[in-house]
Amino acid sequence: MDTARIEEEKRRVVERFGPWTAHNIWLGGDVYTIGKEVAGDEIKLRRILRSVADIAGRPLDALRILDLACLEGLYAVEFARHGAQVVGIEGRLPNIEKARFAGDVLGLPNLEFIQDDVRKLDRAKYGEFDVVLCLGILYHLDVPDVFSFLARMAEVCRGFVVVDTHIAATAERSCVYEGHAYRGRTFAEHDPASTPDDRAADLWSSLDNVVSFWPTRTSLLNALARAGFTSVYECAMPPEADKPADRITLVAVKGGTQKLLCAPLLGAQPIDDLPE
Ligand SMILES: C[S@@+](CC[C@H](N)C(=O)[O-])C[C@H]1O[C@@H](n2cnc3c(N)ncnc32)[C@H](O)[C@@H]1O
Repeated sequence: MDTARIEEEKRRVVERFGPWTAHNIWLGGDVYTIGKEVAGDEIKLRRILRSVADIAGRPLDALRILDLACLEGLYAVEFARHGAQVVGIEGRLPNIEKARFAGDVLGLPNLEFIQDDVRKLDRAKYGEFDVVLCLGILYHLDVPDVFSFLARMAEVCRGFVVVDTHIAATAERSCVYEGHAYRGRTFAEHDPASTPDDRAADLWSSLDNVVSFWPTRTSLLNALARAGFTSVYECAMPPEADKPADRITLVAVKGGTQKLLCAPLLGAQPIDDLPE
């Protein structure tokens, strides 16, 4: 597609679904979904791309990647451009139509966008993935969905999950899930009096839940371990200078268990939770 045609098609998408709100994707020539500038999310994109490439231990084009709540598709499109097989799931039609537009313009047959609720993530439907991107979605879910969602991610993941999320700095709310206590805070998503249309129009928020639950860092780490991730790492580099203090990037690996050959006494004991 030549750049004049891309601009024309982009105008049509904007007329139907509104302008791009966050994901600035280079479409060729001087055409970007937002504009010829670094609009913000590219800094996070650089961190996520580097983390996946460094940790996967295989070329990107050998990976099957799932991008959960993919918004306008920046991360999914990036990995598909590197040759990965990518599925993006997103709950809101305007977001996913913008993502599909970018995929179509760039001619990426290895990229698929599906409109669905990530709380219904299901291995029977989607299969398994080497890498799962859980970016900016965990903190839009409430109890108990936030915990069952972690378990569903572990089910579809055969490698690792990258979690980029807000955490609670203070533990002002507690809850119990499957017999385990968690602490965190409540985050307001929508006015309780808002209509389904109002909620649908809020393009970055939860789909329907009025509040969400942000676990503390410790509760999140314990929840990841209980969901089946065998080790968890925090990413500090590449830097994101403007990242809020209550937001972190974690890599949770779905590995196996090993026998502690030199320490059988410890090996016979269960691994403790992190104390809150
Ligand atoms: C803050 S944006 C983050 C998007 C993107 N992953 C990123 O990191 O830039 C949250 C996204 O989650 C989507 N979303 C919220 N709840 C969802 C759900 N239950 N199922 C699918 N998508 C959801 C929203 O429509 C929005 O696109």
